[in-house]
Amino acid sequence: MSPSWNDVRADFPILHQQVNGKPLVYLDNGATAQKPKAVIDALVRYYERDNSNVHRGLHALSMRATDAYEGARSRLARFIHAADPAEVIFTRGTTESINLVARSLGAKLKAGDVILATEMEHHSNLVPWQQAAKASGATLRFVPVVGANAEGGLDLAALDQLLTPQVKVFAFTHISNTLGTINPVAELCRRARAVGALSVVDAAQSVGHTPLDVQALGCDYLAFSGHKMCGPTGIGVLYGRRALLDQLAPDETGGGMVASVDFDGARWKPAPERFEAGTPNVADAIGLGVACDYLDALGRDAIKRHDHALARRAYAELATLPGIRLLGPTGERGGLVSFAFEHVHAHDVVTFADEDGVALRGGHHCNQPLMRKLGLTSTTRASFYLYNTPEEIDVLIASLRRTLKFFQA
Ligand code: ALA
Repeated sequence: MSPSWNDVRADFPILHQQVNGKPLVYLDNGATAQKPKAVIDALVRYYERDNSNVHRGLHALSMRATDAYEGARSRLARFIHAADPAEVIFTRGTTESINLVARSLGAKLKAGDVILATEMEHHSNLVPWQQAAKASGATLRFVPVVGANAEGGLDLAALDQLLTPQVKVFAFTHISNTLGTINPVAELCRRARAVGALSVVDAAQSVGHTPLDVQALGCDYLAFSGHKMCGPTGIGVLYGRRALLDQLAPDETGGGMVASVDFDGARWKPAPERFEAGTPNVADAIGLGVACDYLDALGRDAIKRHDHALARRAYAELATLPGIRLLGPTGERGGLVSFAFEHVHAHDVVTFADEDGVALRGGHHCNQPLMRKLGLTSTTRASFYLYNTPEEIDVLIASLRRTLKFFQA
């Protein structure tokens, strides 16, 4: 049974406000999601009662903080069905997770090796691999997207030629932040494994929107951010298979990640501590654990159905607007829709929508190479989450009609 989505809105204090004299319609969830009171309260409770450093102190507060922090790690492991909590490394978010794995894996690459990415990667899953390729002499290649509006998704036929034994890493997104494409992660991981390549999955747009099981997907690494799944900002996860993490060199060094140190050198702790130098983001990790509880209580299958239904409805309504170009798949898609008007710039669309209380994102969505390939400089994106309603799509469409009328487009 699905939850009552209108009741869910009561859990999010921020939604109950007016913007420019209109009820807020928050449709920028691809950029960041709002926080339920349970997560906000957990942060306040931690700072009011338990705040202390972890893994260091022998006093009561430090032990409570350590238990809560490690409890959050176990919670995150359950959330993605990792085999072992040690496979969950806390980072600042997707970007730091991918930088960590790109630098650490990049150090093992050499000229002749290939890093394979896709044309739909956002900058967080592109630039770190460019840097890894430059540093190692490896070559970076891309799986193309198909169709004038990338409606065909990844060119899986081209993958046969691209996935050669020279490919050491295959990095790809689960759900595209710009197109809404849902990639066949399990198949891509399986094909990477068949040529001996490691798979790195960017789950920033998926983990809070759909059930996700790293063991069923068969991925080697998976990165995501807490703030896009109702958790706090500044916290995220790099999942890595234990056997791989134990062989991976640390990216950052310092306190907390060393087993012993002398004047000549140091020896590392095993994962996950090896990858968490310095004082970690204790409070936000705990808040993220509470976000997992919140999402699981609603049911991730139910959230997926809700988001996808909103995206389908929005796509159908948007398609009725004159001069619109809709990007991404025409069928099943993640909970977002990107579009462009021939004669109205995305920034104008977003500014007019803001006057109507509607929060959208307009721009290149950290996806400049894809935009260039599609012959665009920018799009407008409406991205949905569990607290959005069909009525909010009606507000969006009315706002866009007003904008088009103003520009007589
Ligand atoms: N990657 C985030 C987005 O798509 C910031 O908006």
